[in-house]
Amino acid sequence: MITTIAKLNEHIGEEVKLGVWMYNKRSSGKIQFLQLRDGSGTVQGVLVKNQVDTKIWDNAKSLTQESSLYVWGKVREDDRAPSGFELDVTNLEVIHIAQEYPIANKEHGVDFLLDHRHLWIRSERQRAILKIRAEIIRSIQSFLDKDGFSLVDPPVLTPSSCEGTTNLFHTKYFEEDAYLTQSGQLYMEAAAMALGRVYSFGPTFRAEKSKTRRHLIEFWMIEPEMAFVDHEGNLEIQEKLIEHVVQSVLENCKLELKVLGRDTSKLEKIKAPFPRITYDEAVDILQKAGVDFTWGDDFGAPHETLLAEAFDRPLFITEYPTGIKAFYMKPNPNRPEVVLCADMIAPEGYGEIIGGSQRIDDPELLEQRFQEHELPAKDYAWYMDLRRYGTVPHSGFGLGLERTVAWICGLDHVRETIPFPRMLNRMYP
Ligand code: 4AD
Ligand code: MG
Repeated sequence: MITTIAKLNEHIGEEVKLGVWMYNKRSSGKIQFLQLRDGSGTVQGVLVKNQVDTKIWDNAKSLTQESSLYVWGKVREDDRAPSGFELDVTNLEVIHIAQEYPIANKEHGVDFLLDHRHLWIRSERQRAILKIRAEIIRSIQSFLDKDGFSLVDPPVLTPSSCEGTTNLFHTKYFEEDAYLTQSGQLYMEAAAMALGRVYSFGPTFRAEKSKTRRHLIEFWMIEPEMAFVDHEGNLEIQEKLIEHVVQSVLENCKLELKVLGRDTSKLEKIKAPFPRITYDEAVDILQKAGVDFTWGDDFGAPHETLLAEAFDRPLFITEYPTGIKAFYMKPNPNRPEVVLCADMIAPEGYGEIIGGSQRIDDPELLEQRFQEHELPAKDYAWYMDLRRYGTVPHSGFGLGLERTVAWICGLDHVRETIPFPRMLNRMYP
């Protein structure tokens, strides 16, 4: 039976069969060392010339980088090996001798690597990132599932916008106009009125002409939505979720974090509660630091970085001016010029990873907002119904998966956090 490199610890001293790719090799004339990978991990295979058939020895010699093969061998514990094991090879069967592999073990430019993304993801670093991405998704879902949330899938093709009309991806839906979803939130609000606590996990789209290290055109969002939960309760769930995710990655992805050279002492500090400042306080801090900033403006990346610098945990900035936030956010009843919202800003300059708010539950105020934002009321008639039939206080948030992965992995750019990034000027492969 075939096993995997990750399970070699269950077979110490035994003979196993693995399906692998050869990613590097060196030879001393009498011994060949094969660096083998199977996706679950890497292991060094050792062939001794006078202990195997000449045919096996020659087959091993013919292996080029990324050739595929079955290999048989005895599992031996080895403290020096990163995986803790080596394989004393007894037999191998070549599946395919790879052509000259374009990604050599040397430095390549980013454009070249992105053009070869379908192959680049095989590298140790890229594999580590995608493994951590999978762990982040797994830990988010297990946290929410355990806390009584149900997974609900909103549509991807929508007749209207959620986050403003400037960056909508337009398409045709037969004769009608349609847009790729910017956020599942409005549908999740309907789902929360049916199931109480819900979350979605899916791709979202923004036709943003921004070429920054934080923006993708297609990115994945986790969007919890909760009936009977207010602004304060919303923040508490967010900080507990993020603490759980970071601690799960530390626990379950030790090798991957090591491959990335991540400073894990910074991640160990990510424990709830997280610090909070209001937008007003943030403006004050910026102005005192000599930044030219007026109340009512939105923060840019440099502002967020400067504000987050003072903290070793994510920072909540709360109660932004009503004028710069989405139409559905509930105003502070004591001060309607600000809304009951919060952005969570990651440490180390990674910027906003979560945007959330309490939602407007008053039907009249919502009608008024449609007018102010020039949104066609008929497209949102169903959404108004949620306020007509048993409206309740409710809140929710959207966690940007790729920015969260970039932060936890300590990456320079979100382009490496998703298997096949969609960016300004790039849709290949
Ligand atoms: O702040 P945003 O726009 O919030 C919403 O869409 C709400 N409807 C969510 C909700 O309350 N259910 O987006 C949420 C998060 C941001 O904090 C950011 O992490 C990420 O999505 N995000 C992006 N990530 C990558 N590329 C982009 N272009 C992104 N735009 C937003
Ligand atoms: Mg936002």
